[in-house]
Amino acid sequence: MDTKYKMAPSILAADFSRLGEEIGRLEKNGAEYVHIDVMDGAFVPNISIGIPVIRSLRKCTDLFFDVHLMVNEPIRYIDRFAEAGADGITVHAEACTDLEATLDKIAQTGKKPAVSINPDTGIDAVIPYLDKVGMVLLMSVYPGYGGQKFIVETLDKSAALREYITKNKLDIDIEMDGGIKLDNVKKVVDAGVNVIVAGTGVFRGDLSANMKSFREIFNKV
Ligand code: DX5
Ligand code: ZN
Repeated sequence: MDTKYKMAPSILAADFSRLGEEIGRLEKNGAEYVHIDVMDGAFVPNISIGIPVIRSLRKCTDLFFDVHLMVNEPIRYIDRFAEAGADGITVHAEACTDLEATLDKIAQTGKKPAVSINPDTGIDAVIPYLDKVGMVLLMSVYPGYGGQKFIVETLDKSAALREYITKNKLDIDIEMDGGIKLDNVKKVVDAGVNVIVAGTGVFRGDLSANMKSFREIFNKV
């Protein structure tokens, strides 16, 4: 069995001029996932990285690529992200006209489907699709930028979703993304989250010490 809690550092906060080395540091420090934020300048008001960068990074590591698509109608690009080396592909419920077809498409590529919702979207938007995903990503900031302040109200959604998952004996990870730091991650895991995305919380300051401190907090839960 995998470790109960997984760290998914977001490379949005890494040094983009030497991404391969940055991923090497994550690997060395025990990250389970690499969280890769893809922004299209339409679903979110920012543009980040995409398919060619993922393809290049795939040559550097065997770590699980947790690809977070902040992209309108991502169904158009699923095959290409899969081919480039994504392991898990997360799409936003708000960005898909046909969420079911989009998740099916991810599954057809052999990659792990996940669905995400923004801070203002209720968990009702994902409940009907839980049989199609291995993970739900709850945004704890409005997507588009790293380094934003954690929206504490999202913890209630996580607790409610974890209760639903447990009650229905489902095997689904809950990931949370945005503003997670050493000083609030305990509340996040207490609310039922088991996959922790952190960008600035990992890359700012001493990466090794940060990773170690996150792990120590998980070990005490
Ligand atoms: C926000 C991204 C996040 C972001 C997290 O749109 O989805 O993954 O990089 O960064 P921090 O942890 O700095 O809030
Ligand atoms: Zn993200």
